[in-house]
Amino acid sequence: MVVVQRRQAVIMGVFAVQTTLFGSTGTSVSRLGFGSMGLRGPRTWGVRCVDEVQSERVLQAVLDAGINLLDTAPDYGLAEERIGRYLRHRRSQFLLATKCGCDPLQHADHLEVRHTWTAAVIRGNLEASLRRLQTDCIDILQFHGGDADTLQQAGLIDLLQSFRQQGKIRWLGISSALPHLPALLQLQVFDTVQVPWSCLAPQHADCIADAAARGCGLIIRGGIAQGGPDAEIQRPQWNDIWQQAKLDELLPPDTTRAQFILRCTLSNPQHHSVIVGTASLEHLAENVAAAAAGPLPREILQQVTQRVAAVLAQPVPHP
Ligand SMILES: NC(=O)c1ccc[n+]([C@@H]2O[C@H](COP(=O)([O-])OP(=O)(O)OC[C@H]3O[C@@H](n4cnc5c(N)ncnc54)[C@H](OP(=O)(O)O)[C@@H]3O)[C@@H](O)[C@H]2O)c1
Repeated sequence: MVVVQRRQAVIMGVFAVQTTLFGSTGTSVSRLGFGSMGLRGPRTWGVRCVDEVQSERVLQAVLDAGINLLDTAPDYGLAEERIGRYLRHRRSQFLLATKCGCDPLQHADHLEVRHTWTAAVIRGNLEASLRRLQTDCIDILQFHGGDADTLQQAGLIDLLQSFRQQGKIRWLGISSALPHLPALLQLQVFDTVQVPWSCLAPQHADCIADAAARGCGLIIRGGIAQGGPDAEIQRPQWNDIWQQAKLDELLPPDTTRAQFILRCTLSNPQHHSVIVGTASLEHLAENVAAAAAGPLPREILQQVTQRVAAVLAQPVPHP
């Protein structure tokens, strides 16, 4: 155990996480970011419960590795509270992105998530997030979904702009997906956009290019395809694509499949920060090493794109 921990410390000490300009925010962001959904604790949806001790270890290690973007949400159970508890004294070292529009339904034994687009919910989210995160300013407040017409008609974009004028947030963000994203981008009000992309799920590539052309800071989620075939928790939808595209044939030596997926994502410089979730120090070290290894060769990336496109073009089998 001690040997493993020492090896992880060495890996994280040796590899510096690269940074890049975060769109027109003008600030610098680490190419590898951290998604805190896995730190949500026992009462939220999900498959695994990470305890306090491990949550603190992972959060400290994330900053020690040079990662400077943390994504969270009121929907992620204990995650905001844990970030506040364990990282408040290091607040100047990272950009904090949380979300709004989250209307938690707290049952006796679990939390469900509903999104409600009213000023009262958004105001309540911001105040609760500031309190839980133990900070006086959120760097990026992202609408957790929503569509352009609803957000505009309810006056919620103006509301976020008023938060910015009051110094409670720095930038307006959206965490979204198709079919809502194109109209949201046309509003031209978002400093950052959070979108899913991986080589196994490349459907948002055009939205990403559009957002980049508009100068948005790009936050990529799903960029390691939830660990792909290497994950402890298997996700058949990604693994089937991996198998059918025969991507094992393209793996460079000494590279895990998860690292390969992450390197594919990081090979696109428009993907400013890829927020990977992990509760494992070993995986964190692997991800830091993968990010430091740099882009994959162009021929490999082309092969991946072509093979996955061929798999996705096949008719979906019906039972
Ligand atoms: N609508 C939204 O706004 C929305 C939706 C989903 C997610 N998010 C954000 O995006 C973040 C990322 O979520 P995601 O769903 O995209 O998950 P993800 O980061 O693609 O995957 C997380 C999973 O990958 C595993 N993993 C990480 N590194 C690994 C490695 N090197 N080898 C093997 N397995 C590895 C983790 O397991 P271990 O813990 O065992 O490493 C975990 O089960 C979330 O935390 C959240 O902040 C936002």
